[in-house]
Amino acid sequence: MKLVRTIHELRQALEPLRHGSEIGLVPTMGAFHEGHLALFRTARDECDFVVVSLFVNPAQFDAADLDRYPRDEERDGRLAADAGADVVFAPPPGEMYPPGYQTWVEVEQLGSILEGQFRPGHFRGVATVCLKLFNIVRPSRAYFGQKDAQQVAVVRRMVCDLDLDLNLELRVLPTVRDRDGLALSSRNVLLLPEERERALALPRALATKDPERARELLSGLDVEYVEVAEFEPRVLVAAIRVGSTRLIDNVVLDGEAK
Ligand code: PAJ
Repeated sequence: MKLVRTIHELRQALEPLRHGSEIGLVPTMGAFHEGHLALFRTARDECDFVVVSLFVNPAQFDAADLDRYPRDEERDGRLAADAGADVVFAPPPGEMYPPGYQTWVEVEQLGSILEGQFRPGHFRGVATVCLKLFNIVRPSRAYFGQKDAQQVAVVRRMVCDLDLDLNLELRVLPTVRDRDGLALSSRNVLLLPEERERALALPRALATKDPERARELLSGLDVEYVEVAEFEPRVLVAAIRVGSTRLIDNVVLDGEAK
């Protein structure tokens, strides 16, 4: 596996593959867990060449949250290699946002509800970095987790609205959970044992697939929202705060369980 820091190096590494090879891209922010590894393994099965991007995108965080975000690049590199990544693209912030940078993608309505309401500017950062990665890598498939259902909706809308390459397929894989039901998240390591116990109310509430009952089961916790969202597929989504950690999760309401 090759570790690449610059856009130029990545383009050079991909150049020989441009004709006839299917390139898979898995955008990530590192601190890998089984949810990430499931995306890598599927990309490995489905594509000729797998690029994992590892970039804690400052544009989608507020400053305090950015500082707290867990980072362990050495471990991540090993895990990505074991799961079949061909290249890990881990640029420094200045490579993605050099001095003078000023172009942003705003997905207006989908980017401003739910997560967007509680994290203003978050999806502007997500959409922008995903568009940049799509342009740099030009993948046949990009892999995302259903865990971040609104992120998928925002990226899908952007791909459609900006007429991105018709050869780009978005692949969305089911949420991977711990045995106790908690959705895997890089932020789970920030939970104290007692907080983790309280956090279990979130998957339990969502498992009812009923917004009223879910709200009841979450009463007493610091709830930001519990809503049915008309994404594809429809989901019951929720966000809570446990101590200083923010957790999001969702369940699919119709169609195949994800
Ligand atoms: P990150 O939180 O690192 O997640 C990378 C990918 O892994 C996302 O598509 C996310 O939905 C998926 N993922 C996270 N937890 C998962 C789980 N428990 N089961 C299945 N998939 C899971 O999401 C981001 O990074 C960033 O916003 C990014 C898209 C990289 C843009 O910066």
